[in-house]
Amino acid sequence: MRTRELVATCSRGLEEVLAGEVLDLGGLRVEAGRGMVRFHGERQTMIRSCLGLRAAMRILIPVASGSAGDREQLYRLAGRVAWEDYLTPGGTLAVNVAGRNSAFGNTVFAAQVVKDAVVDRIRQRTGGRPSVDLVKPHVPIHLHLREGEASISLDAAGTPLSKRGYRPKGGPAPLNSALAAGLLLLADYDGERPLLDPMGGTGTFGAEAAMIATRMAPGLYRRFAFERWPDHRQDLLVKVRRDLEALQRPAPCPIVSADHDPKALKVAKQNLGAAGVTQWVDVVPGEATAMVPPGEGSLIVINPPYGKRLGEAGALKGLYSALGDRLKAIGGNSTAWILAGNRELSKSIGLKASRRIPVFNGPIECRWMRFDLYEGSRRVGREDNSLVMSAEKAEE
Ligand SMILES: C[S@@+](CC[C@H](N)C(=O)[O-])C[C@H]1O[C@@H](n2cnc3c(N)ncnc32)[C@H](O)[C@@H]1O
Repeated sequence: MRTRELVATCSRGLEEVLAGEVLDLGGLRVEAGRGMVRFHGERQTMIRSCLGLRAAMRILIPVASGSAGDREQLYRLAGRVAWEDYLTPGGTLAVNVAGRNSAFGNTVFAAQVVKDAVVDRIRQRTGGRPSVDLVKPHVPIHLHLREGEASISLDAAGTPLSKRGYRPKGGPAPLNSALAAGLLLLADYDGERPLLDPMGGTGTFGAEAAMIATRMAPGLYRRFAFERWPDHRQDLLVKVRRDLEALQRPAPCPIVSADHDPKALKVAKQNLGAAGVTQWVDVVPGEATAMVPPGEGSLIVINPPYGKRLGEAGALKGLYSALGDRLKAIGGNSTAWILAGNRELSKSIGLKASRRIPVFNGPIECRWMRFDLYEGSRRVGREDNSLVMSAEKAEE
């Protein structure tokens, strides 16, 4: 079967872990770029990428790339693609735009040019006219702009892969699921050690950790744009699903998602239930500054509030400092990773990070900071046992 070029996009900072995932699923000529991984594979690899990649946002199939210094050039570039192979006259399309090109002040204009080129080509060749459907198009088209240039791709998944299909309920600041999974992979999490998220919010780390630990493919039960394409092979999709299902196992170690906000706990329970991982994640009330990891050698992952609004950051300094104190007291050969989106606040943790990996949480440049908590070695500050609430206790 023919192999073709594929591109998996991701949050910046996750390229290396995503490249590792692509290699594991059989991608060929794998090359990490900026916010993406380029590789080659057969149709089955494309399907497997959509269902199985944890850190990826989109799976793109490039169809045209070249100069786009003005409207005419972009129109010609888009018009060269054999859209009639993908889109029937009654079919629907949508154009999603990423990147920037000063010839197209706003991305809506660039999207319009590509849409016109596709519609005109189908009309000339077939006499029919495809229409736009922004929600569930047969063919989602991804336009990536660079200065003077553009790349046009088919978007095989459609809805971004971070939407796992269990329709998580939002909270005040839920992490993107693909980013959460990528951060866990950067922390070398494979399910073989206990995991605690003491500021679990809507349970995103918990859900992704459970899927990694049980080897459940994140896109196993969602739908994809490629299922609406004329050349779709349902037999291959069924085979890939079966192969992925066969990999599943029970989670070998405990996973705990805690929060001090009862509303967040309620949403986390709903989300984990919808994701089908309730049995692997304990959702418990708890104060992060009194956290107790669920076992020796635990991995602790924390996405604390950043305090984006004026005045909030000052108030959060005390929280970061108390978190640092608690981590110092934990030891137990645990490892903590904190997603820090505010440099000043991260200094208040008062611990030296052994790694600081730049990652982007949407537009916010963050550091994924690692702290090694050796037994007894850095025991400083207060240790107030009256504050300590174990996960089991909190559950009662
Ligand atoms: C940025 S949100 C985490 C979002 C989470 N990663 C998700 O995907 O939903 C921070 C969470 O920390 C919780 N939180 C803040 N201070 C806390 C504390 N002292 N103890 C426990 N939870 C706390 C908040 O209730 C909020 O849910």
